[in-house]
Amino acid sequence: MKIAVDGPSASGKSTLAKLLSQRLGIPYLETGLLYRMFGYIAFKEKVKPEEALKLFDEDFRVFFDVGKTEVYWKGKKLAEELKGEEVGKYASLLGEVPAFRERMIELFRRLVGGVQVVAEGRDVGTHIFPEAPLKFFITALTEERARRRYLELKSKGLEVSYEEILKAIQERDLRDFNRPVYPFKPAEDAHIIDTTNKTVEETLELILSIVREKER
Ligand code: DC
Repeated sequence: MKIAVDGPSASGKSTLAKLLSQRLGIPYLETGLLYRMFGYIAFKEKVKPEEALKLFDEDFRVFFDVGKTEVYWKGKKLAEELKGEEVGKYASLLGEVPAFRERMIELFRRLVGGVQVVAEGRDVGTHIFPEAPLKFFITALTEERARRRYLELKSKGLEVSYEEILKAIQERDLRDFNRPVYPFKPAEDAHIIDTTNKTVEETLELILSIVREKER
């Protein structure tokens, strides 16, 4: 079965989608990681959003399996360098280019093919796998999302300020939700899950109960 897990930045969707993949033993595809990889390459190679299609000629590889997605550029794994808000901003700018997004949708469909997957992102339920029988839209209050991202980046030893992260998240939400083409919104048949006052374990149990219900 294909399961779509969408939501805004720092909503907890990555943590939940990864755990869900592990609990169900099916591969995990983090689509945002590919947007981030291309955002990073665009930044390094000074590729403007209007030239974004050029990025598909880069030497990149994607690997995904239960609980993990990995991306490589020129044979080197990219991970920590993709985490910051600056790369997230570049990724979001690329996401505004309709032709680029169409190629990304194609790429994700080709990567997954007919196999089962927990795919996580912004438009999995609406555009990548609209046929997925189970869709979740994970959300939380903006301040709570900023607090989580702040703690996450700080625990990785990055110098960050809460106010700056809050501002960056608000700006990115505004751009992601208001793109003229492919605006970011929940699929009509998505289960909306608000994680603001829930622990990861509570939310995961809630999601698993919906999965079990569907499997019956
Ligand atoms: O999930 P994330 O925060 O790592 O994603 C980074 C950016 O990439 C996000 O702000 C918008 C873009 N993105 C997208 O447009 N579509 C996706 N399916 C995933 C990410």
